[in-house]
Amino acid sequence: MVHHTEPAAGRHPAEVRRDTTLLEIRGLSAAYGQLVVLKDVDLKVSPGELVCIIGPNGAGKTTLLKLVNGLLRPSAGEILFEGERIDGRPAYRVARCGVTQMFQDVQLCPTISVLDNVMTGCHVWTQAGFLSTGFRLRRARDEEDVIRTVALDQLRALGLGDRVDAKPRELSWGEQKLVGLARALVARPSLVLLDEPYGGLVQDEIERLSCLLRELTAGGMTVLMVEHLTDVVMDVASRVVVLHYGEKIAEGPPQAIRNDERVVASYLGE
Ligand SMILES: Nc1ncnc2c1ncn2[C@@H]1O[C@H](COP(=O)(O)OP(=O)(O)OP(=O)(O)O)[C@@H](O)[C@H]1O
Ligand SMILES: [Mg+2]
Repeated sequence: MVHHTEPAAGRHPAEVRRDTTLLEIRGLSAAYGQLVVLKDVDLKVSPGELVCIIGPNGAGKTTLLKLVNGLLRPSAGEILFEGERIDGRPAYRVARCGVTQMFQDVQLCPTISVLDNVMTGCHVWTQAGFLSTGFRLRRARDEEDVIRTVALDQLRALGLGDRVDAKPRELSWGEQKLVGLARALVARPSLVLLDEPYGGLVQDEIERLSCLLRELTAGGMTVLMVEHLTDVVMDVASRVVVLHYGEKIAEGPPQAIRNDERVVASYLGE
């Protein structure tokens, strides 16, 4: 009998304590060499929230996401996930805590199928080791069947059931983004980081993605998202954070941000 570590899909809404803090960022700063790109940023995110980070090009939005998922190390400050320090941990260990992401440029593997791309997202909860996989032992084969089913189900749920055997380049940009999202979701994260997921989507894809994000957060998943499309942000965000030259200049419900003079002057007014 093979026991898989596959966790239940998301978290049951009843288990989500929306009054607690899932992610806490304290005094976070970051630099590329001499170039300081994030200065003393504080942020708290509760379970089930959809927090959008907005701000002009170069404001430090992508950098902030990369600090959370362990791809970059901060020059100062702390990042706590479920109360534990994760800053400075390598990305694979942060992923194992339940944090996944979709990058601005998606980064699908071009030489393998859509289904195989999504299956790679399951690696955070697989158990079969390198050797049993290499020798295709029973344990590894059973596990691969589970992974294949999980990936297929996720692709079907995103309306990509008929594209599983295609190579990424045969898909539209919008479809590639959904595949990237599927790959992030099969990891069963409690926090998903999305860097401009709407960029390049056509109108019906935009609506589909907004619907999906609402479903995910209603189910207890937490989303921290960078997005430029202001209408979408105002529509889906439970809270908006505004970065400007690496500093947080405003934070609040979408409507308050839309009317914030400093935000309009520095970003929305453009
Ligand atoms: N690897 C890097 N090396 C040096 N500088 C970098 C690197 N990555 C980003 N930067 C610089 O850091 C600053 C912040 O970049 P970041 O990518 O976080 O901005 P952003 O808010 O995501 O912008 P955009 O809206 O264009 O995606 C920019 O000035 C950028 O040029
Ligand atoms: Mg960016």
